[in-house]
Amino acid sequence: MSEPAVRRAIRRSRVRRAAVAAVAVTAVAVTTFLLPGGASASSTAGRPALAAPDVPVANVKAHLAQLQSIATANGGNRAHGRAGYKASADYVKGKLDAAGFTTVLQAYTYNGATSWNVIADWPGGDTAHTVMVGAHLDSVTAGPGINDDGSGSAGILETALAVSRAGLQPAKHLRFGWWGTEEAGMVGSKNYVNSLSSADRSKIEAYLNFDMIGSPNPGYFVYDDNAALDTLFKNYFSGLGVATEPETEGDGRSDHSPFKNAGIAVGGLFSGADYIKTAAQAAKWGGTSGQAFDRCYHASCDTSANIDDTALDRMSDAIAYAIWTLAAGGGGTPSPSPSPSTPGGNVFENAADLAIPDAGAAVTSSITVSGRTGNAPATLQVGVDIKHTWRGDLVIDLLAPDGTAYRLKNSSGNDSADNVLTTYTVNASAKAANGTWKLKVQDVAAQDTGYLDSWKLTF
Ligand code: TRP
Ligand code: ZN
Repeated sequence: MSEPAVRRAIRRSRVRRAAVAAVAVTAVAVTTFLLPGGASASSTAGRPALAAPDVPVANVKAHLAQLQSIATANGGNRAHGRAGYKASADYVKGKLDAAGFTTVLQAYTYNGATSWNVIADWPGGDTAHTVMVGAHLDSVTAGPGINDDGSGSAGILETALAVSRAGLQPAKHLRFGWWGTEEAGMVGSKNYVNSLSSADRSKIEAYLNFDMIGSPNPGYFVYDDNAALDTLFKNYFSGLGVATEPETEGDGRSDHSPFKNAGIAVGGLFSGADYIKTAAQAAKWGGTSGQAFDRCYHASCDTSANIDDTALDRMSDAIAYAIWTLAAGGGGTPSPSPSPSTPGGNVFENAADLAIPDAGAAVTSSITVSGRTGNAPATLQVGVDIKHTWRGDLVIDLLAPDGTAYRLKNSSGNDSADNVLTTYTVNASAKAANGTWKLKVQDVAAQDTGYLDSWKLTF
């Protein structure tokens, strides 16, 4: 294409992108309230909170068999934009509706196709203290995605059904989420987190993620993002006499990432993907060293046969243990990852919305830091939450109190995704911590628009 033709093509795709973003915010709300066996909501009132049940692994496997059938009937996968995904969402929603959950299909659009998160609330509990549990329901296009992540989806589904069977009346509110489009970059969970007001985000005390919990050559990995949640799972497995290791693949690989970036405490379990099991790991967990935890990761052979029943069983029971413990107010109150946001402590936030003019002048938002001693750290965390329909338009700098600029992000004609919801690390160790820091944001290209939702500094 000639230069002007390229520019016209870019312009066209930008216009389409903006239109899509405008319709994508409409959620399809479907609310059902039924209790199993014809029980009424009041018949469970006052029932004491009992110990977590053993989640029947046969039931978890029955859900996996259904997800396998759905994939088989729909071209072999349950991927974003394919019929197998919607059928998976309908299956999960149907089970939850029949068990008395309040469910919503939260619609969004990605890459020209509509998709849905399934959000299920268990009626009752204090919503100001919400415990949320999630797994992604989409597969890659290569296969049916039974371990990745049918396993987590089925594990949390059966745990949700166990909550219903027990008639649990938790002190805290319980919410479950099945995410779409994780495999394209956590699109569904990002949409969900972005759809919450700051007030609603702050009501989520903990988010637990389960992405791959039945790997055929399993490991027992516990997310190490939050000390209280990490300890909760480690205690459960030490009670079983099963060793664990911290999940070290980084925080960017699954749906806990957007929650963590929003300052929510996160935890979770993982039985391993494409990494190779070492001899030491095989010695403590069994299985085969020198082989991947899941040799069918993102492949057509990720079928119902690609599951280790023992790992699936233990991890499903661990989910129930965590939910029962946290929902009753036990397990310690997790503080947000990575550090507590106590006033006068490490975290300073400005949550005032600030419009960013389209192709306009830079705007700045200030945070005044006081009460600290010495310089800022070499790992100053700059959390940025910008809602925008084309983030490639944005140039972002952090300005130290003396005016020194640290470039956080350049503009890019190719970066067509929306929103900036991330944490940058800046070496600000040459600057005094106290004083007025500024976030400077400029939209340098015409068409798409947005605003700064909030930003924060973690010292
Ligand atoms: N769905 C994730 C992915 O495809 C699976 C995964 C790989 C994962 N490594 C992880 C999930 C570490 C949690 C933690 O990348
Ligand atoms: Zn996954």
